[in-house]
Amino acid sequence: MTPNPDRRSFLKAGGIGLAGLTLAGTGLGMSGSHDPHKRQESAATEASTQRPMVSISGKKALVLWYSQTSNTARTGRCIASILEQEGFSVTATDYRKIDPPSVSGFDLIVAGSPVYYYDVPPHFQNWLKSVPKIQDKPVAAFVTFGGEGGNQHNTACALLDLLTAKGGAPVGLSTFGNMSTFAITWSTGNIGRIMKYSHLPDTRSYTRMADFARTIAMNMREGRTSAYEKNLDYREWIKGPLSMRGTRALINRHAIDKAQCVECGICVHGCPATAIDLESGTIDAKKCVACLGCVNNCPENAMIMEFLFFKVQGFYTFKKEHNIRITEPESWFSTPNPS
Ligand SMILES: Cc1cc2nc3c(=O)[nH]c(=O)nc-3n(C[C@H](O)[C@H](O)[C@H](O)COP(=O)(O)O)c2cc1C
Repeated sequence: MTPNPDRRSFLKAGGIGLAGLTLAGTGLGMSGSHDPHKRQESAATEASTQRPMVSISGKKALVLWYSQTSNTARTGRCIASILEQEGFSVTATDYRKIDPPSVSGFDLIVAGSPVYYYDVPPHFQNWLKSVPKIQDKPVAAFVTFGGEGGNQHNTACALLDLLTAKGGAPVGLSTFGNMSTFAITWSTGNIGRIMKYSHLPDTRSYTRMADFARTIAMNMREGRTSAYEKNLDYREWIKGPLSMRGTRALINRHAIDKAQCVECGICVHGCPATAIDLESGTIDAKKCVACLGCVNNCPENAMIMEFLFFKVQGFYTFKKEHNIRITEPESWFSTPNPS
């Protein structure tokens, strides 16, 4: 996203390296003339003027993510495949499979998150805060988001902040647009906004993912770190808990339809708040963080959720009903699609 002329921005920490390059406003630019692809390409050109300084062959990279509905996982897996091609030995996984202390054993750490309520989901933030010091280790962050105006750039900065707070040296930041998984949007009738992005990720998205991974590798080889800056965005003031509580307050019914439920446990496993009791078919509203993971992933359409008395339809059923298939070109991936 090209910076607005009236935008106030502030520079975030990043000055550990030999040369800095600014990664600002990396929005997808789904509409209008903003073209973040160009910005990324020019950053890569700028970096390529440096002579290679560090061999990355055999270096250990960790690509970890939180992902509820596969968008972020898919992006992470693609980035991991390209890093492998660049010579890294890569571990690519959901953050819940990684022990926080083991993070310091990697030479490069790349974290990915969806944007939820204009921010990094709190449980992923908490996990990253529990990671020990990773002094001067190259770190990068990316987010996936669901449409323009989702505070995606600032959320990517916030994710990178969590890694630089541990001493990490920033080497990359990017954002990738997808179809939004915020089920309430289509359930209350705003289907057009969702369908507008149902073609994503497309070839251009995968090319950007690959470019992002190559830029990280190049920055690491050349000992470069990146300055990055947040945009002035009013969503910074309503992000996270405030937005989440607003949504949760308007969920007037949330329960399990015992007649439909096959007790597969997908909802329980996906709930970051341990709010679901499968046996009784109840959800603890006080614990629920309105992430919609339960309703989005139930393959039996057994999660009852009503928002302002509209029945909320999950992402899984929405995709099925609208015949939406997300393709993964094999050439971009070294790991099979788990879903
Ligand atoms: C609870 C919830 C909140 C969301 N909030 C935002 C948001 O604030 N901004 C945005 O651009 N997208 C938002 N989205 C859309 C997701 O960020 C987007 O679809 C993302 O790619 C999902 O990634 P995942 O499949 O890895 O979970 C939200 C989705 C959910 C389920």
